[in-house]
Amino acid sequence: PASLIIAVDGPAASGKGTIARALAHRYGLPHLDTGKLYRATGLSVRLSGGAPEDADFAAAAARGLDPALLDDPDLMSSENAQAASIVSAHPGVRAALLAVQRAFAAQPGGAVLDGRDIGTVIAPHAPAKLFVTATPLCRAQRRHAELARSGDPRNLATVLADIEARDARDSGRSTAPLVRAGDAALLDTTELGIDAAVQRAIALVESAI
Ligand code: C5P
Repeated sequence: PASLIIAVDGPAASGKGTIARALAHRYGLPHLDTGKLYRATGLSVRLSGGAPEDADFAAAAARGLDPALLDDPDLMSSENAQAASIVSAHPGVRAALLAVQRAFAAQPGGAVLDGRDIGTVIAPHAPAKLFVTATPLCRAQRRHAELARSGDPRNLATVLADIEARDARDSGRSTAPLVRAGDAALLDTTELGIDAAVQRAIALVESAI
């Protein structure tokens, strides 16, 4: 198709970011990691001394988001991931971040977006949708290895508990919960290395378009 939108959704550390980047490279499309928008909102709230639970405060932060926060060294930390998952449950936050994501998806040649609600809310008409998963333990092991490399001393049990808390919050919220779109292809990466997961993702996209 002239415009190829690829929606990649899934839980934390499922491999969706790596797969989305590889697909963007393969098809020559721009890529947006939408989790960064929620992470930047969580960070903005934390930096201004607000509580992520405060819906009005968080929505105002999302509306006035400073793009410089997307490059903040604390953006990808575990503390900030929890704040992101708390602010992301507020409907006002999601509404504030909708337009920028829709505009990104509407670029002439298409785009790859990864997140939790791309195939269900942001780009429901995307021709190619993947729902990437892996078992909680597998995802915790990946995230634990990643954190260890960056010098974060958190142990595996703590990382697993963090991931399970985030899964429960992301799947349990009433606005745009993490759920597989009816027409999304399921890609379980538990037993797959990066190359195999990417090859499988490309095959699924090819059969969808
Ligand atoms: O993908 P990442 O782990 O960076 O996302 C951080 C948090 O942002 C998620 O736990 C989720 O609560 C939220 N998020 C969301 N919708 C998206 C992307 C991320 O609610 N499309």
